Amino acid sequence: MTTLDQIRRPIESEIEEFNAFVRKNFSEEQGTLIGDMLEYVLSSRGKGLRPVVVMLAAGATSATGNFGKRTMLAAMLVEMIHVASLIHDDVIDESDYRRGRDSVNARWQSRNAVIIGDYILARNMNIGLQSGQYDLLTHIIGAMSTLCEGELIQSDHASKLDTSREHYLDIIYRKTASLFSVCGSVGAISVGASPDKVAAMRTFGKMLGMAFQIVDDILDVTSTLEKLGKMAGSDAQNGKSTYVTLLGVEECQRLVDKLTDDAMSALDAFENNDALTEYAKYLADREN
Ligand code: FPP
Ligand code: MG
Repeated sequence: MTTLDQIRRPIESEIEEFNAFVRKNFSEEQGTLIGDMLEYVLSSRGKGLRPVVVMLAAGATSATGNFGKRTMLAAMLVEMIHVASLIHDDVIDESDYRRGRDSVNARWQSRNAVIIGDYILARNMNIGLQSGQYDLLTHIIGAMSTLCEGELIQSDHASKLDTSREHYLDIIYRKTASLFSVCGSVGAISVGASPDKVAAMRTFGKMLGMAFQIVDDILDVTSTLEKLGKMAGSDAQNGKSTYVTLLGVEECQRLVDKLTDDAMSALDAFENNDALTEYAKYLADREN
């Protein structure tokens, strides 16, 4: 099975540069509440899948195969929206663990967690505005309201327990796949790719994001706190009807395979897209 390390290898040095760029933009004095909270959040950002998709999409669609500062900025804007959304998500889900550690709300209480999430979003927006790269910012910021819609629609269904397959797919598109699709398209936009390449990368990101969330939902019922580093079984506990609880793990796996095929079809227009193709395969294999 392809590993995530193999997928990241072609852009290893860029990922390091990206991590330093994020720290430079989101660090504050240690020993202050804001500084300590930011340090805690930045020191466990997880696998960084979204910036990887932005950078791979940029590399695959740029005329030279290279990408620069605009791509780094786009990757950071997307990643920090994701980081803030998970801080808020753990407050909503009353989850005490994230990435094998106390969640921000467990460590500093929900009221501080909400504010640091807001702070990250505000600072992110400021950085985007000050950069003057309005095309990137405009493209990315739309995803924030879509994420909120996903959470609210999910919450509405949780109280009514009437989730259909269509509702579920709509929810996971909004809460997860919309941001992944932006990762694909903004990566391509950041290097001035043609509209058809931007559209193909958008489709790639969307299918990947749908597959990713279904796998996440499968793992919620099949895995453990120790393996996941976050609470398992919390979807049912929070009244969320996921595709897994609706149709079972096997049906979900079939859907993940189909979405991954669709993601790979979106790449047909490209040559030398091994890293992206491997990434799609990695997600499909992840829980096997
Ligand atoms: C994780 O779902 C949650 C998301 C992918 C989206 C969260 C979005 C919000 C809280 C809306 C606020 C948006 C912004 C931009 C601040 P999950 O609970 O199924 O996954 P988990 O198991 O990782 O917790
Ligand atoms: Mg959650």
